[in-house]
Amino acid sequence: MNHTTQEGINNAHLWPLTTVVDMHGRLMIGGCNVATLARQYGTPLYLFDEETIRSACRTWRTALAACYRGETAVHYASKALLNTALTHLIADEGLGLDVVSGGELYVALRAGFPPQRIHMHGNAKTRAELEQALASGIGQIIVDNLDELAMLANLTAYRSPPQPIALRIAPDIVTNTHAHIQTGHATSKFGLPLDALDAAAERLRTAPGLCLIGLHAHLGSQLFDLEPYAAEIDTLLDSASRLRDRHGFIIQQINIGGGAGVPYTADQHPFDVHALAMRLGEALTDECRRRGFPLLHLVIEPGRSIIARAGVALYTIIATKNLPHMRFLHIDGGMGDNIRPALYGARYSAVLAERANAPIEESVAITGRYCESGDVLIHAAPLPRASVGDILAVPVAGAYTLSMASTYNLTPRPAVVMVNGGSVRLIQRRETYEDMIARDVVSSQGQV
Ligand SMILES: Cc1ncc(COP(=O)(O)O)c(C=O)c1O
Repeated sequence: MNHTTQEGINNAHLWPLTTVVDMHGRLMIGGCNVATLARQYGTPLYLFDEETIRSACRTWRTALAACYRGETAVHYASKALLNTALTHLIADEGLGLDVVSGGELYVALRAGFPPQRIHMHGNAKTRAELEQALASGIGQIIVDNLDELAMLANLTAYRSPPQPIALRIAPDIVTNTHAHIQTGHATSKFGLPLDALDAAAERLRTAPGLCLIGLHAHLGSQLFDLEPYAAEIDTLLDSASRLRDRHGFIIQQINIGGGAGVPYTADQHPFDVHALAMRLGEALTDECRRRGFPLLHLVIEPGRSIIARAGVALYTIIATKNLPHMRFLHIDGGMGDNIRPALYGARYSAVLAERANAPIEESVAITGRYCESGDVLIHAAPLPRASVGDILAVPVAGAYTLSMASTYNLTPRPAVVMVNGGSVRLIQRRETYEDMIARDVVSSQGQV
C-alpha cells in the first residue's frame, strides 16, 4: 500500500491498530476496505482485526513476565466474546481460557483448546456443568460458594488424582465503575465472603478428590485505577496466610481476575497494561516476602482489553427522522447485537465508513431497529451529514456485544469477519430465519 495516499484515523486509540483512511476518505482496517466488506457480507457486520487481538495477547503476556519474577499466566475471559476462530487464535498466542458455562466450555473443547489451560468460573454452575468440566480434564474449577464446594466434593469423592480448584473470595473492595460491572464489594453475589473461608477449609479437609491450589478475586470491569488491584493482592495474601496458618493449606496461585479498562470515547485514555503489571509484580513480591511465601504464581484474566478494540460494528443507515432540534439515523442493528448502551449507559462513537475523517456537520442520535425506545446506540454522535445507505462504523465493539446478543424481534444475529494483511475470512455466518425456528417443536396434533 502506498503510504502517501493514506492518513491516520482521528482518535486512533479507539480503532484497531491497522486502521487507516485512504485518499478517498475510506476506512481501511487490516488492509481491507470496510465499506466494501459491509456491502459484500451485509450489515450488521462485526469486523475483527487479527493483528490487534494478537498484539493485545502479547502485550499482556510480555508485560506480566517482565514485571514479576514468579510464574505468570494470562487467561482470556471468554465471556467477552467466544467463537471457534477466536479460540484458535487465543490458543495460538499461548493464553489460557476462562469459561463460565457449559456452552463456553463446549465451544472451547470443540475448537481443540487444551483442557488443562481452561479455568471454569460461575456463581451458579449446575451439577451437569461441573460433571462436564470434570470429565473434560479441565485445569481448574474456581469455586464460588460453599454449596458448590459441597457438590464438587461429592462428585469427586473417588477421584484420583484430585481436581485442582481455586476459591473465589469477595474481597470487600469497592471500585470506581458502574454498579452493574462491580463485583468485588462485600455484598456482591460473587465469591465467598471472607468470613466463610474457614468453613470452606473445613469442608475441604474431607474432600480427598479436590486439591486447593489457588485463590481468586475479580473486582469488576472498566477499571482504570491501579490501587484497588494492590489492595486485592493484600486481601488475597491475607486469606492465603489464614488458610496456611489455621488450616495447613498451601496456596500456590493468586488469580486477580480481569477488569482492565478500555477507552470507548475520545475523552478516555488508553489503559497502561505495563503500569498494571509493574504494580501487580511489586505488590505480590512484597506481600509474598512479608508473609513468608515463595513467589506465588500470578494469573490474570483480561477479557475486554483483549478483544474490545479489535472489533468494529458496521451498520447501514436505513432511514432518518428529522425533528426541529434533533435528527435520528435509524440503523439495521442496535440492542440485539449491542445491549451495552441500554443495559448500563455505555457510550460509543461512530464514523461514516466512506467519509471517515470528514468534517463534522451535525450531532445525531443513532437509533436501533428494535421495538424499544431505549434502543439508542449513541445519543449524540458528531458526524458529517449522513444519509440513507451510508455505512456507519462503530469502534471498540468487540467485547460484551455479540456475546450478549439476542434475537429480539426475531432478528438474526450478525455475521462476523476477521481481517488480516489485506484478506478477509468469514468466521461466523449470519444467523438465518431457519436457525430461528430450528428449536421449535410442532406436535402432530398441532400440525396444519
Ligand atoms: C471472573 C472474571 N474474570 C475476568 C473477567 C473479565 O473482565 P474484563 O473483561 O473486564 O477484563 C470477568 C468479567 O466479568 C470475570 O467475571
